Parts: sequence; C-alpha cells; structure tokens
Amino acid sequence: MSIRFRLLLSFAAVVIVSVILFVSAAYLLSVAVTGDFRSISSFYRIHYSLHPLSEEEESIFLDLKYLAKHDPVLLQDPERLQSYDLELKMVQAGLVVRRNEQLVYVSPMLGESLQASELPAYEMNNYSIRNTMNLGSRFYSYAKFDFSFGTKAADRGSIYVLRERSPFAEVIRMVLPILIGIFAAVLLITSLLLYRYVTRKIIQPLERLKQSAEHIKEGDLTFTLKPESGDEIGQLVMTFEQMRLRLHESIQLQLRYEDNRKQLLSNISHDLRTPITTIKGYAEGIRDGVTNTQEKLDRYVGAIHTRATDMEKLVDELLYFSKLDLNKEPYSFQQLELVSFLKRTLDEMAIELDQQRVQLTWECPPPPEAIFVLADREKLRRVIVNLVDNSLKYMVRDPKILTIGVKRGPEQSDIWIKDNGPGIKPESLPYIFERFYREEESRDQSAPGYGLGLAIAKGIMEGHGGDISIESSVGEGTTVFLSLQNFVDHR
Ligand SMILES: Nc1ncnc2c1ncn2[C@@H]1O[C@H](COP(=O)(O)OP(=O)(O)OP(=O)(O)O)[C@@H](O)[C@H]1O
Ligand SMILES: [Mg+2]
Repeated sequence: MSIRFRLLLSFAAVVIVSVILFVSAAYLLSVAVTGDFRSISSFYRIHYSLHPLSEEEESIFLDLKYLAKHDPVLLQDPERLQSYDLELKMVQAGLVVRRNEQLVYVSPMLGESLQASELPAYEMNNYSIRNTMNLGSRFYSYAKFDFSFGTKAADRGSIYVLRERSPFAEVIRMVLPILIGIFAAVLLITSLLLYRYVTRKIIQPLERLKQSAEHIKEGDLTFTLKPESGDEIGQLVMTFEQMRLRLHESIQLQLRYEDNRKQLLSNISHDLRTPITTIKGYAEGIRDGVTNTQEKLDRYVGAIHTRATDMEKLVDELLYFSKLDLNKEPYSFQQLELVSFLKRTLDEMAIELDQQRVQLTWECPPPPEAIFVLADREKLRRVIVNLVDNSLKYMVRDPKILTIGVKRGPEQSDIWIKDNGPGIKPESLPYIFERFYREEESRDQSAPGYGLGLAIAKGIMEGHGGDISIESSVGEGTTVFLSLQNFVDHR
C-alpha cells in the first residue's frame, strides 16, 4: 500500500470519525437539553410544524377529532376530557378544549392562567392545523382542530393537543443539519488541503528521491537535486545531493586516476625503452666485435654505464615519488635554521654552479637573525637541489643569475629561488607540478630529465604542510616560492 493511499485512507477516517463524533455529541446535547430521547429521531423524519405530536399523541388527537366531528357535545364532558388528558399526560402532552371565547378544559400542566385569547384564532377554512406557538414564556408544538359545537356555524370550538418544546432545542434542531453540513464540508476541505500539502511536501520530494536513486543505480550521476524546504525532508534531499556529489567526484577522481595510471605506464615504458635500446645496441656492438680497440670498448662500456645510471635514477625517483604519493615515506621533522641550511646546500652544488659560471645572489636577513622552521632536513635538501637543478638545466644564456631569498613571516617563512632562464609558458604553468610533465622545449633541447623533479618537490612540501608555487614569465625567468611553518619552541 503506497503512503499516498494510506494518507488518503487516514484523512477519510478522520472525516468519518469526526462526523460521527459530532453527530453523537449533537444528539447527546439535544437529549440533555430536551430530556427526550425520541425528539431527535422525530426531527429527522419531519419538522414539528408538520408532525408536532408523537404517534400516541396523534392517535389521541385523532380520537378527539372524531368526537369533534361526530359528537361535539361529548367534548364538554369533563370526565371524558380528563381521561383523555390522563392518557396525554402519560406521554407528556396536554389538552385544551375551547368553545367560542371560553376554555372548556385546560390540562393542569398548562397552568391556571391560560386565557382563550392567547390561543391562535379560529380558522374555519382550514380545520386541522399543526404548528408551534408561545404561551407566555413557554414554547409548544400543537395540533389543532376547529369545529362547530352545534348546527350553528357561529358556535365554534377547538381542540388543542400540545406538547411543550424547548425553544433552544428547536433552534438546535433547525441549525443542526446546517451545522453538520458545514462541519463535514470544512473537515473535508481541510483534509483535502492537508492531503495536498502533505503530498507536495513529503510524497513528491520522496518520489523525486526515489527517481534519483534509480538514476544512480543506472550509473547516471549528472542530475541535480534541489531541496525545496529546510525541514527533515529538505535535509534528507540535501544529504542525498551531497552524497551524489561525493559519489560523482569520487568516480571522476577514479577515472582521472585511471587515466593517470595509463599515462604513467606509457611514460615509464617510453622513458625506459630509450636507454634500454641504446644499451642493447652498445652491447650488441661489443658482442659483434665492433669494439676492436680498447678505447672504443671503454666508450661503449661508458655509454652503457651512463644509460644504466639514468635508468637507475628514473627508477629511484619513481619509487621515491610513489612512496610520497602513498604517504609511505616517513618524515623526521626537526628545528632547522633556514639561512645556514640553504648556504650549506648551495655549497654542496658549488662545483656545478662554478662550471656554469652562475652568479649567486642572496636575499636574506643579516647574520644575527636566524629563521627557524620545522622541516625534514634531507627532504628539504632534495627540494632545493631539484629546484636549483632546474634553474641550472634550463638557464642557457649568459650571464646566468641565480637568486636565493629567505624571509621570516609571522607563522611561516618563505624561500624563493629565482633564475633568469627562459621562463615557463603561461599555458604550461598549471601542469608544471604533474609527474612526467615537461614542456616541449625542454624535451627538444634534450635537457635530461623525466618531469619528476617538481612533482617530488610538491609532494615533499605538502608532506611538510607547506606550500610551493611558481611565477614565471617567458624570456625573463622563473621564481619558485616555498613556504614552511616556523619552528615554535613549546618548552
Ligand atoms: N627554472 C625553470 N626554467 C624553465 N623551465 C622550467 C624550470 N623549472 C621547471 N621548468 C619546466 O618544468 C618542467 C618540469 O620540471 P621538473 O623539474 O618537474 O622536470 P624535469 O626537470 O624536466 O625533469 P627531472 O626534474 O625529473 O629531472 C621542465 O621540463 C621544464 O619544462
Ligand atoms: Mg627538474
């Protein structure tokens, strides 16, 4: 059974139960007011004006009417009238007999003070009348029959069989059906509105959720779900939407990883294939006796050694990079004074710097000031070597100027390594930190490398919780910025 159908059922039940309760309450109220169990049932058959009397009263009234028609003189017999009155009293009704302007008989229940003039006038054309009237402050329903006592038309008489009614009960009886109608209509409209509201606010979003879940099941994650309210359903829709986004992102990421993996494999195989082919060529040369002189043999062996070293470097770097990538490379952080650390690292590279006649400039605070950061010495050294290595590799024009700068900030300190090399094209900058990425020019110039230096540097800087970025303009040079957390002594 669907929720929609259940809701419809429950609203229908509410309407029915409410109407039943209302009718019962109205009945009980009317009984409480009139003290008469039958009044309500007689009401629903017909109005008092048409049926002012109950069946018993009506039969006594008919007897009296018969008498009035055929033997009106008997209606002056007090004993006979008293016996009729007694019968009527049993059913809580009363009797009045009037002759001309005099009252021949009045039930004691109507009181002594009743005057003939208070009763409705004679209506000869309409003998039998059923209606209601007020006598003093009391309200009665009655059946009346007008007749002639003798042969003379002027000798008029009337019989009244009356029954006291509560005016309040009368009003209730009048308005009760209208009230029940209005009540039922209001209840019905409210229920329908509620049903529509609940359907719009709960069922429709749930149905949309269901459709979305089916989309996901079929692998379609491109749709968007918008919550239409801030309530629980809205929150559910929002959570579902977040879940879809996450799923979408993770699938995209997975696809990217898959692409990357393929790219990586093809790059590695390409980068390994070239030296292997060369090694194979030289080895075949040796085998075929091409190296007939010692000098030639040395050259061949030297070439094999160089290629093997290149391959070893590639494999080492790849291994190192994948360890960084998988967070398997442990860090040992320690307090490190940046200026002295950088000077020592550059000193280690002095021979290469000298060979290429590079002018090294320092932009750092004067000696007493020390800048302490928290870093893994060996890994940071690797970053600096990679960056300086790049500058040395790509600076081709003289004079070659390399500037190293350090600056202490409030929470982190910055290092910059600036060269006046060829620069990096703006369109290449976004990819520069990706593994195996090399600019076309770098490949063409046959500068050695695999495009792993910056990827490793970035991995290490991320491992430090630091940052690395590059600014470069073609023809002017490149600056790499590093930032590292300052060392804070908590002792
Ligand atoms: N200082 C620089 N000046 C000009 N181009 C640079 C500089 N640094 C990096 N690049 C460009 O960025 C690319 C990626 O650099 P990265 O250090 O990652 O790789 P690589 O130097 O080519 O190879 P590897 O570092 O693995 O030996 C380089 O190929 C080069 O095109
Ligand atoms: Mg490099």
